[in-house]
Amino acid sequence: MKHNTFVNHPPEVEVPSDNRPLVAPIYQSVKFSFDDAGETLRYLRGEREGFYYSRTSNPTLRQLELLLAQLQGREECLLVGSGVATIAATALALCKQGDHILAFIESYPPTRYIVQHVLAKYGVTHSLLSIEDRDAIERVLGERSTRLALFESPTNPVTKIADIEHLTAHARRSGCLTVMDNTFAGFHNHGGFDVDVFLHSLTKYASGHGDVMGGAIIARRELIAGMRKDLVSLGPTLDPHAAFLIQRGMKTYFLRYERQCANALAVSRFLQGHARVKRVFYPGLESHPQHALAKRQMNDFGTVVSFELDGGFEQGNRFAEALRFFSIAASLGSTESLVTPPQLMSGQEYTPEQRAASLITRGTVRLSIGIEDVEDLRQDLAQALDQAFV
Ligand SMILES: Cc1ncc(COP(=O)(O)O)c(C=O)c1O
Repeated sequence: MKHNTFVNHPPEVEVPSDNRPLVAPIYQSVKFSFDDAGETLRYLRGEREGFYYSRTSNPTLRQLELLLAQLQGREECLLVGSGVATIAATALALCKQGDHILAFIESYPPTRYIVQHVLAKYGVTHSLLSIEDRDAIERVLGERSTRLALFESPTNPVTKIADIEHLTAHARRSGCLTVMDNTFAGFHNHGGFDVDVFLHSLTKYASGHGDVMGGAIIARRELIAGMRKDLVSLGPTLDPHAAFLIQRGMKTYFLRYERQCANALAVSRFLQGHARVKRVFYPGLESHPQHALAKRQMNDFGTVVSFELDGGFEQGNRFAEALRFFSIAASLGSTESLVTPPQLMSGQEYTPEQRAASLITRGTVRLSIGIEDVEDLRQDLAQALDQAFV
């Protein structure tokens, strides 16, 4: 073998079967080969286990899929390259021309975009309601044949809580599938409800360190099997190295989430007592209008705190810029704290009625709370509130 052949067929290293690595290796390989064409054919016909091409399956992804499915209390999981890819992929795989979707004003903006603009191009219609409007939810599900109800809880940014039992019961009765973007609440929440499909952006709490993107679709076996068939051809797969980083992040998921929730409650209590804060939105506060519902549905209350500043865009920007430990940046759920000032959340695509239902005003600030020392966070917020109003 010449050297230019040798570099393409390097020596193989066998790890003895009684000598295992504690951390599973990254299968950073696009292709997997069988010993002969017959076995390859058997795999392609679904007659044997194995791996062949990483757009279809990969051992590093499989380990993460099995972990996340079990944490969320469902049979199967499908990984994709980002959180928004889970939304687009699920809608594309489950809907056809002429179907109707129930979506919500309070949903993540790209979710609304997918429903209102992308799916609309393919003849899928929608109703856009407030997640709090129980009567309208019952009416739409009772009157219109609806393929999917696509919802979140807590919602972004003002942490409204969906009444999951109410929504899923009415959806089930009318043959509508429920799809819950469970990113804010996490894998350890809501698994006991009759939700058909859970979506997660793994970019947030799963990876936890803000250095990798991913998404998970979690559901019962036959739903995932149907989606996998379509998505293998659409190609939004996660890279094995990203899956490895997310798997590593999951080791500290519960520690981080617990600490972030404790910090979020302390921060929301501090803000509640501040003269320049008109209103605080955190489901863990007794003053939250749906605190009792959140307590019934969740094991904890999440790590996003929003509040209404006694001011507008100018004070909001000054406040955000004065913070030392909160960066002005997108996303949430990583170890570090983040702030979104009101001007970056102005919801320009809303009609006046939708804006009123969203509860987002010119003073709404969103905080994503990290794992920093809580006293540092409180002091930082106090000094920034002072500076916003000098
Ligand atoms: C509720 C929710 N769903 C989905 C996403 C999208 O996730 P990604 O950024 O991984 O595409 C986000 C991102 O902020 C989100 O907040």
